[in-house]
Amino acid sequence: MSMILGIETSCDETAVAVLDGEGRILSNELNSQVEEHAPYGGVVPELASRRHMESIEALTQNALDSANISFSHLKGIAVTNRPGLVGALLVGVNFAKALAYALNIPCAPVNHLEGHIESAWLADPYLPTPAMLLIASGGHTHLAWVPQRGAYQFIGWTLDDAAGEAFDKGAKMLGLSYPGGPAIDALAKHGDPHFVAFPRPNIHSESFHFSFSGLKTALRYYLRDEQIKPRFPLSVADVAASYQEAIVDVLVEKLSRAALQYKARTISIVGGVAANSRLRLKLENRAQDIGLSVILPPHFLCTDNAAMIAAAGRKKIRCMKQSDWGMDAISTLKVKNNSAAMSKISYL
Ligand code: KG4
Ligand code: ZN
Repeated sequence: MSMILGIETSCDETAVAVLDGEGRILSNELNSQVEEHAPYGGVVPELASRRHMESIEALTQNALDSANISFSHLKGIAVTNRPGLVGALLVGVNFAKALAYALNIPCAPVNHLEGHIESAWLADPYLPTPAMLLIASGGHTHLAWVPQRGAYQFIGWTLDDAAGEAFDKGAKMLGLSYPGGPAIDALAKHGDPHFVAFPRPNIHSESFHFSFSGLKTALRYYLRDEQIKPRFPLSVADVAASYQEAIVDVLVEKLSRAALQYKARTISIVGGVAANSRLRLKLENRAQDIGLSVILPPHFLCTDNAAMIAAAGRKKIRCMKQSDWGMDAISTLKVKNNSAAMSKISYL
């Protein structure tokens, strides 16, 4: 048996998963800390690390139990070592190294964003390439050109806030709960997306980079100006729907334009924001209009999970002669300085 254990602790989700030798998910356990961070309106790094430490051992046992295997069946361990909160990453990295050392099996470092890319193939192992993928989460908004599975190039990213951050900060201004994405998504279903004409930053620029800080400011000024108007009570649902529409329009436009320019066959979205119902609907319609296939992974593969980490580390584990026991946690993503280069998953 050649099972791979995946471990993910880069932010506020402790996750452990088991994949079989064919890359199929046998278990995918998750312990979300969302409720603990909610009172602070965002992730508190030290709290995240402490919660990871408390839950990682039991979650690993759960993942093995759900997969109906024991430690001796594991062939290797893949763990997220970048990018993310360093204290949070260190918990997963050190746990993975200690376990791999004790079991005498390889331990492979995985780039979290490469995990998100692989989650599109977990959703559809036959996903047609070339493909254009959007990774949109709380920390990242990246357009990845994927000529074939396992190779990718980032062709655009956010110059300021990530799309998920725009949702979270916008929700806070609207008095909604954390995390803001699901809260805006739910409320927007009862609102008019054309109620406020918020700006669509960079939507027509030639570059594939994103910028969401101006939109956030536009919401702030809109709310400030509305407060002094003694009109009817402000319809938060209408404002939320309009704000969401602006983010979604930018994401759909840039992703589809990049796909056409690069002559992709498929478009896909991954990362927490990919769970957004309006984004999924509008992207599906756009893909149909321009004749491309679209893969919308199920929610459990959109948000952070360890199955995607195991999937991204599988190839590396197969080729590894020995582990780098000095493997460190790295907070940043080097790719920004190296955007022109094609990268290979698991070989960075
Ligand atoms: O990928 P993820 O689980 O963690 C990170 O790596 O950041 O993404 C979390 C982000 C949060 O900003 C959250 O508000 C957003 O994804 N999100 C959504 C939705 N569900 C989660 N944004 C919009 N609509 C949603 N339904
Ligand atoms: Zn993520």
